Amino acid sequence: MVGVLRLVDVYSGYGKMEVLHGVSFELGKGEIAAVLGPNGAGKTTMLNTIFGLATLHRGEVSFNGVKLNGRKPSEIVKLGVSYAPQLDNVFPNLTVEENLVVGAFIRGKDPGIRSDIEDILDLFPEIKRRRNQKAKTLSGGERQMLAVARALMTRPSVLLLDEPTSGLSPKAGATLMNKIKEIQQTRGVAILLVEQNVARALEIADRAAVLVGGKIVREGSADEFKSIPIERLFFGK
Ligand SMILES: Nc1ncnc2c1ncn2[C@@H]1O[C@H](COP(=O)(O)OP(=O)(O)OP(=O)(O)O)[C@@H](O)[C@H]1O
Ligand SMILES: [Mg+2]
Repeated sequence: MVGVLRLVDVYSGYGKMEVLHGVSFELGKGEIAAVLGPNGAGKTTMLNTIFGLATLHRGEVSFNGVKLNGRKPSEIVKLGVSYAPQLDNVFPNLTVEENLVVGAFIRGKDPGIRSDIEDILDLFPEIKRRRNQKAKTLSGGERQMLAVARALMTRPSVLLLDEPTSGLSPKAGATLMNKIKEIQQTRGVAILLVEQNVARALEIADRAAVLVGGKIVREGSADEFKSIPIERLFFGK
């Protein structure tokens, strides 16, 4: 496997508090890897650590061989990593289209931005229809689509997604998961997907890791995880 994103023996947290205790993980080029685990396991912290939003105490995070330790989120985005966080992932008072423009902020006056907006809206017809509507007026599912669409505006090669389907109806969740699969397949973007809904994540993931108490307790192919009951996966029962 060609690892595009690598975490080697990472200890990280917030200030002195340590949340991740020795996490090693590799995301392969163009693959979807699901990070599963119970509430408070450190899933969001793992993404925050990659994106320069947590305190890295020890270990190494690298992207295409470039060390990310100590870099700011703005630098990490420029290298090709994009993040759709769990909360506050769109600007509620901006329209759909304005959110996409802001998403491309780091590209400056790149003339390709306009056509990328159209291209990304074509991928999400549900929000294309609402391009002049403020984000706060969108449904939960539409808002999550916008968060993913916004993250694509930097043309990433790695996308970090934190519970994109949380709070969505089963139907809206399934629709978004299919979009995420489509993004991987048509754009070759590698995706690190944090998801609470294990079955849903395993349907689109190539590989999965289970994080419990800040440590990866299990790793394997999505197929091999499918037959394991969640309690056993998370708590070894
Ligand atoms: N900004 C922060 N400052 C201090 N502690 C934090 C911060 N964010 C998270 N924590 C703590 O870190 C631990 C792991 O939280 P994290 O958000 O990474 O878990 P999670 O696996 O994403 O959980 P969930 O499934 O509920 O989203 C928790 O004990 C949490 O209270
Ligand atoms: Mg979380």
